[in-house]
Amino acid sequence: MGRSLHIIVLALAVVAYGLLKAAPGAFRQDPEDAAVQQLQLELDAEVERGAVGRLATALSFATLANSSAPNHIGNPAPFQQLHDFLERSFPLVYERLKHERVSEYSILFTWQGSNPELRPVLAMSHMDVVPAPEGPGYNWTHPPFSGTVADGYIWGRGALDVKVTVLQQLEAVAALLRQGYAPQRTILLAFGHDEEVGGGSGAGAMAALLASRGVELELVLDEGGIVLMDGVSGPNFKLVERPVALIGTAEKGIEDWEIRVAGVGGHSSMPPTDGSSVAARISRVLAAMDAYPTPTKLGAPVTDWLQALAPAVKLAPLRMLLQNANNWIVNPVLGQLLGQAGKEINPFVRTTCGVVQIEAGGIAHNVLPRSGSIKVNCRLLPGHDSSFVQEYLEMVTRKEAAHVTLHKLPLGSVPASHVAASSGPHWQLIKQAILETLQPPGGLQVAPYLVSGMTDSRHYSSLAGGRVYRFCPHRYTRADIGRVHGVDERIAAEDFLRGIGYYRRILQLASADESSTEAGPEGAAATA
Ligand SMILES: *[C@@H]1O[C@H](CO)[C@@H](O)[C@H](O)[C@H]1NC(C)=O
Ligand SMILES: *[C@@H]1O[C@H](CO)[C@@H](O)[C@H](O)[C@H]1NC(C)=O
Repeated sequence: MGRSLHIIVLALAVVAYGLLKAAPGAFRQDPEDAAVQQLQLELDAEVERGAVGRLATALSFATLANSSAPNHIGNPAPFQQLHDFLERSFPLVYERLKHERVSEYSILFTWQGSNPELRPVLAMSHMDVVPAPEGPGYNWTHPPFSGTVADGYIWGRGALDVKVTVLQQLEAVAALLRQGYAPQRTILLAFGHDEEVGGGSGAGAMAALLASRGVELELVLDEGGIVLMDGVSGPNFKLVERPVALIGTAEKGIEDWEIRVAGVGGHSSMPPTDGSSVAARISRVLAAMDAYPTPTKLGAPVTDWLQALAPAVKLAPLRMLLQNANNWIVNPVLGQLLGQAGKEINPFVRTTCGVVQIEAGGIAHNVLPRSGSIKVNCRLLPGHDSSFVQEYLEMVTRKEAAHVTLHKLPLGSVPASHVAASSGPHWQLIKQAILETLQPPGGLQVAPYLVSGMTDSRHYSSLAGGRVYRFCPHRYTRADIGRVHGVDERIAAEDFLRGIGYYRRILQLASADESSTEAGPEGAAATA
């Protein structure tokens, strides 16, 4: 019986997979909608107050972190200019909130809540950006540090990742202060200066400072998920057509490993004929890694992600599969399917091991090397650790076991994060703020998901008991994703302003105590 069920599920899966092609979803605009008009008024007001220009100016400072410089700051001038600019631009925030410089160029704001019994909420971002190479192949429409506003967009490095949320959070706090809002729960804003090179000097130091003061956090809000306006799709199929807001409830871990390979050396005029050269052994290991990827595993938060998307999936067979992602028969089959759905989807169901460096150890043009190595960068699913990677690497090197040794490299390894709840009060607050401020007229699906990169939030995770949610209030099209760390990074002025509205709402919801949180409509009225 188990077997025939399995076959039915497989058949359903194949049908669903074959049908996974759909026209882009129509996106209904309803200009009569009162809520849309209200939002428009708020956006107009922010424009009048100059928020767009402030972001543009903030983007003009080339705040590049440098991993090999002391404190991760090679050139301090742009950081100092940004700090001076923020202090000039948000006088009310600097006057009313406690602000502390940490490791010189990170900044921690404390907006004291009226109820000291409540654990603080921490909103975070980072002020550093990645470099913006110029020259052949890197043609920016407007130079990356020019702070240009044109065609309805604010252009520049940091417009998406993620200086933009520094400005949005400060604008939101300034707006709340102007309207006389008083938080019950303390609000902390923590802006690091070195996230792009690991965050150890910025977020790491701020987290240590909070820990030394015995601070426990109720909730951490960091970058990570976004609103995908084109829904969720792979290279040749669409899973969900309508816009989806993804909230990162977990992030993958990272480990680097080296496979050292020994072989028969000697004069290159007499290479071994039995496959015992370093090059032959390395190539067999690489072929095995290519043919046998790591086994798939469909677990939280990816199962929660699929179940949250399911109602928006049009194809009934596929919808059924996603709804039953935790079912013991569906789960492994669905995992396998997703593992074959292209390089964007595959990392959700696999700990991946990408080969990043191959070295055959040659020392001269006529000498066969006696050793070589393969370096592998692995991204770990929640629930997987070093022993999983080690077992996998042992499996793919089994035939060469006598000539191979495995080494976990000491630098920069980070375990996969805790998985935050995708139900319950914290989840609901964020979902509510998203739906109230970012929802397009055609509706928005909100789903948890797994962040494949790393964020600074990991530094605070233990202070917050893992209650970490990763979301930037920005609407992305498929093309925008390539602009992150790429060319022509930009944000629509309207999206930037909407994001201010999101932070106003989430900071208000999260800093009210439980009783006032439940009085939703009152809170909503206060925002308007
Ligand atoms: C980074 O800092 C190191 C050490 O201070 C310096 O040698 C290097 O030139 C800097 N790199 C850049 C891109 O500025
Ligand atoms: C970039 O600009 C240069 C000179 O303006 C031009 O020759 C080149 O074709 C452009 N490259 C791309 C990829 O647009």
